[in-house]
Amino acid sequence: MKAVLSKVVGGPETLVVEDIDPPSPGPGEVVIDVAACAINFPDTLIIRDLYQFKPPRPFSPGGEISGTVAALGEGVSGWRVGDRVIAGVGSGGLREQVTIAAARLFKVPEGIDLVQASALLMTYGTTIHALKDRGDIAAGQTVLVLGAAGGVGLSGVELAKAYGCRVVAAVSSEEKAQVAREAGADEVVTYGRPPFDKDQSKALAQQFKDSVGPEGADIVYDIVGGDYSEPALRAIAWEGRFLVVGFPAGIARMPLNLTLLKSCDIRGVFWGAFAAREPQRNAANIAELFDLWRAGKIAPRISETYPLARAHEAIAKLENREAVGKLVVTMD
Ligand SMILES: NC(=O)c1ccc[n+]([C@@H]2O[C@H](COP(=O)([O-])OP(=O)(O)OC[C@H]3O[C@@H](n4cnc5c(N)ncnc54)[C@H](OP(=O)(O)O)[C@@H]3O)[C@@H](O)[C@H]2O)c1
Repeated sequence: MKAVLSKVVGGPETLVVEDIDPPSPGPGEVVIDVAACAINFPDTLIIRDLYQFKPPRPFSPGGEISGTVAALGEGVSGWRVGDRVIAGVGSGGLREQVTIAAARLFKVPEGIDLVQASALLMTYGTTIHALKDRGDIAAGQTVLVLGAAGGVGLSGVELAKAYGCRVVAAVSSEEKAQVAREAGADEVVTYGRPPFDKDQSKALAQQFKDSVGPEGADIVYDIVGGDYSEPALRAIAWEGRFLVVGFPAGIARMPLNLTLLKSCDIRGVFWGAFAAREPQRNAANIAELFDLWRAGKIAPRISETYPLARAHEAIAKLENREAVGKLVVTMD
């Protein structure tokens, strides 16, 4: 079978596609015929050894897959060959077959396309945990979403709308602004590119304040970090929740006096660790996502698909800040 392999530390150009032996399932495991593997920001980091997990080489990047069950290992119950599934694999998804513990699979309901389903877990799974479990979201609140036209960002716009909130989306281009509007954003802030000096930082804070309104944002959904975080924190509401999710623009340092002035919380979000520590709560969140999908309230937006041989191009596009919505690699 074919696999995208990282054999040396480096960018997307270092990835190769090779034939490797097909896997067989160990006890409690299943083999999946992969239909699609969605690309996420961690794929850009893991191949450079910059991610929190460093799999031994050679490994395949690709953190989430959809497909059908091809073989069952000893002791697996509740699954049949041919079942349609999605799974978060962390890495190893960019290959034609993967082996995974059966306990980590989620069944894809009838009527939901497998390629589209590959893009659900990492983005919407993170966001539903962030907004509900960490952000205490409630109808009528205002949510400011940074990087709102990326994978996690768009899921933030859609889910916050699904929970009855007013959504202010922040993005870096008019094309991305349009995508955020189409996903339901009530208002869009278009920001520049860092580094920001003091005046630019103040001006961005004012743009955020003008858009969220005088009461401020009850939730700031920060998947971007860097020079964007402090201006966003300055636009938060009294007792607001600032959710720390990702750092494509760098890790921000925040003046803690701002939390005192707004009596607000800065809260970390680590979906992968939550899913491992609390699998039942995570499974309930994923079931809710499928319900929202069937009710027409959410749907992952895939802007481009790539064959396995061009998976490196998808990772490069994400890294270069050019991706809109989700990029997905499909198998032949
Ligand atoms: N905490 C968790 O549990 C968790 C789970 C999943 C993902 N994440 C993190 O969430 C973040 C977003 O992931 P994603 O898969 O949604 O990525 P994505 O689709 O590439 O979206 C990231 C967005 O960040 C913005 N951005 C700002 N500066 C950037 C830069 N220098 N390079 C690239 N993008 C930049 C871009 O929007 P603009 O151009 O509009 O600014 C881009 O659309 C990543 O940091 C990822 O590691 C965290």
